[in-house]
Amino acid sequence: MTHPKPLTARRPAAPLTGTAQVPGDKSISHRALMFGALAVGQTRITGLLEGEDVMRTAAAMRALGAEVVRSGAEWRVAGRGIGGLVEPADVLDMGNSGTAARLLTGILASHDLFAVLTGDASLRSRPMRRVTEPLTACGARFTGRAGGRLPLAVEGARDALPLDYRLPVASAQVKSALLLAGLNARGMTRVEEPAPTRDHSENMLRHFGATVMVEAVGAERVITLEGQPELRAADVAVPGDPSSAAFPMVAALLVPGSVVSLPGVGLNPLRTGLFATLREMGADIAVTGERIAGGEPVGDLVVRHGALQGVEVPPERAPSMIDEYPILAVAAAFASGVTRMRGLAELRVKESDRLTATAAMLLAAGARIEVEGDDLIVHGGAPPPGGATIVTHMDHRLAMSALVLGLATAAPVAVDDAAFIDTSFPGFVALMRGLGADIS
Ligand code: S3P
Repeated sequence: MTHPKPLTARRPAAPLTGTAQVPGDKSISHRALMFGALAVGQTRITGLLEGEDVMRTAAAMRALGAEVVRSGAEWRVAGRGIGGLVEPADVLDMGNSGTAARLLTGILASHDLFAVLTGDASLRSRPMRRVTEPLTACGARFTGRAGGRLPLAVEGARDALPLDYRLPVASAQVKSALLLAGLNARGMTRVEEPAPTRDHSENMLRHFGATVMVEAVGAERVITLEGQPELRAADVAVPGDPSSAAFPMVAALLVPGSVVSLPGVGLNPLRTGLFATLREMGADIAVTGERIAGGEPVGDLVVRHGALQGVEVPPERAPSMIDEYPILAVAAAFASGVTRMRGLAELRVKESDRLTATAAMLLAAGARIEVEGDDLIVHGGAPPPGGATIVTHMDHRLAMSALVLGLATAAPVAVDDAAFIDTSFPGFVALMRGLGADIS
């Protein structure tokens, strides 16, 4: 991704219409490859997201000795069993992916091997201490740059100890890193989370035969994993990514007359905070065909254009829509009234400082938006005129949000670099054009 790829979105002459299959869930795709590599036997995965982030995980699992191949529409992983990964011969480059880097750090921590992790400039600026600090307790040693940032050298534990840790921030990545380390530790690994975060790791661990207990204590969750299980290969059907569906969904809500169908989207309640929020704003989002596929709830969505009203988004909803605030802010700019999104400190440490970058994007397009502490406040009522080029800071979700914005503003909106969209949503531009969007 050395050449920046500028793109411009313009208001289409006609409504957005049609059906679009969004690509596989990124979180579930990373986990399917990782658990497959740690299981005994052959795991078959359908619907895997073939974005750059997930391909980094595939390459890392290969470098650690698992066989990962694509065969037709299916991916096959021949696993090495718990504790069976081998020392990689070279540095593991996780590209733009925080999930890949953090979850892999958990796996490496309880393998008796030496490995070095790095990533692109965005990933190298992101905090890793949130995983390395608790993982040290299992016996692993980490050496990184100032602030614990990548590149990071890992000396995994020979006989890993189980972990018992209370997460200081609600983070599915940290929780998952600890559970992955706990897989190769004797005894019970216990993680307390202050608020529920996406539970794909817990679901998939069970699917592969591990014993995971989850105890709810008010809003808190205590997750306990029995160490050193025999993970057995399993088939995984990856649902469409709700975080990717968010972009055509908001585009359909904002372009007058639009009706868009999005079949096969994951509806895990710990991921659908955006859908709930948009409905509170008055959005017409119909769900049919609800079913369980590969241990995860899935459904078919139909989204219709309509007027939106501003709402207050409470801080406790943040974990269930943590990646969706940039696109929600775009929707809010076209709503009547004020939308206040509260408790967004974690947005500052995503692929970019998304709190600042989301505000800058909307300000540049002429919207009224403020950052107040960790809150984002969008004043609706007057649709932003557009006519700006947005700096996307190596952040796929900012790039897609800005392009959706440009489909609804009177003047076009351009992005400096759309190349990073391929990390999570390869085919985004083609999919949006298929619905009638004007992006070139
Ligand atoms: C993810 C968890 C979230 C999210 C990221 C994917 C995961 O990060 O932002 O895109 O797959 O576990 P945090 O857990 O750090 O909030």
